[in-house]
Amino acid sequence: MEITTLDALFEHELKDIYDAEKRLTKALPKMAKKAETEELRGLFEEHLQVTNQQIQRLEQIFELIEVKPKAKPCAGMKGLVEEGEEIMGAEMEGDLRDLAIAGAARKVETYEITAYRSLQAMAELLGDQEVQDLIDETLREEEEAEQRLTAICDQLLQNASGEEEEEDEESIDEEDDEDLTMEDEEEEEEINEDEAVPAGPRTPGKQPGRK
Ligand SMILES: [Fe+2]
Ligand SMILES: [Fe+2]
Repeated sequence: MEITTLDALFEHELKDIYDAEKRLTKALPKMAKKAETEELRGLFEEHLQVTNQQIQRLEQIFELIEVKPKAKPCAGMKGLVEEGEEIMGAEMEGDLRDLAIAGAARKVETYEITAYRSLQAMAELLGDQEVQDLIDETLREEEEAEQRLTAICDQLLQNASGEEEEEDEESIDEEDDEDLTMEDEEEEEEINEDEAVPAGPRTPGKQPGRK
């Protein structure tokens, strides 16, 4: 493969993201099915519709640059989808499962955002305003999806921290005990100094080298 012009590179990247979006239309229903939180499931269902519109938008761009729409296998998205499937297949429950699925989806969105930002930068140089506007619209949708996923992850993490509150309280108690012990030791040292205890082993039998 030889790419010698910016046009050619743009076309190459366009075919790549076209394939990525198509892969996602197959992955998103599976993710929605596995999600337990209503908000997360709803987001996946909604993003599937959004993704279909993004595919149409890409086809509009192909038309504008007079290139036949063709998907070039996107190795990046293939890997991210595989990774998502792997984590969805793990034995997990409730919030933890949703946190894992949302995390996989965030990786996907981040990939898409970067891909569209690169396309946008190239489109800017190539100077087609209509193409730029179409990319902008999709980019905003991807950024919004990523932000909503982040908010869901934060909520799920907050739930998880609430569940572990009891454990935290226990460790705080332990810390208090440690503080007390340290204070006691300090006090003891002060007393010893006052009494001017003569130097020398208190337990001679335990000193190294002696028997
Ligand atoms: Fe997308
Ligand atoms: Fe997306």
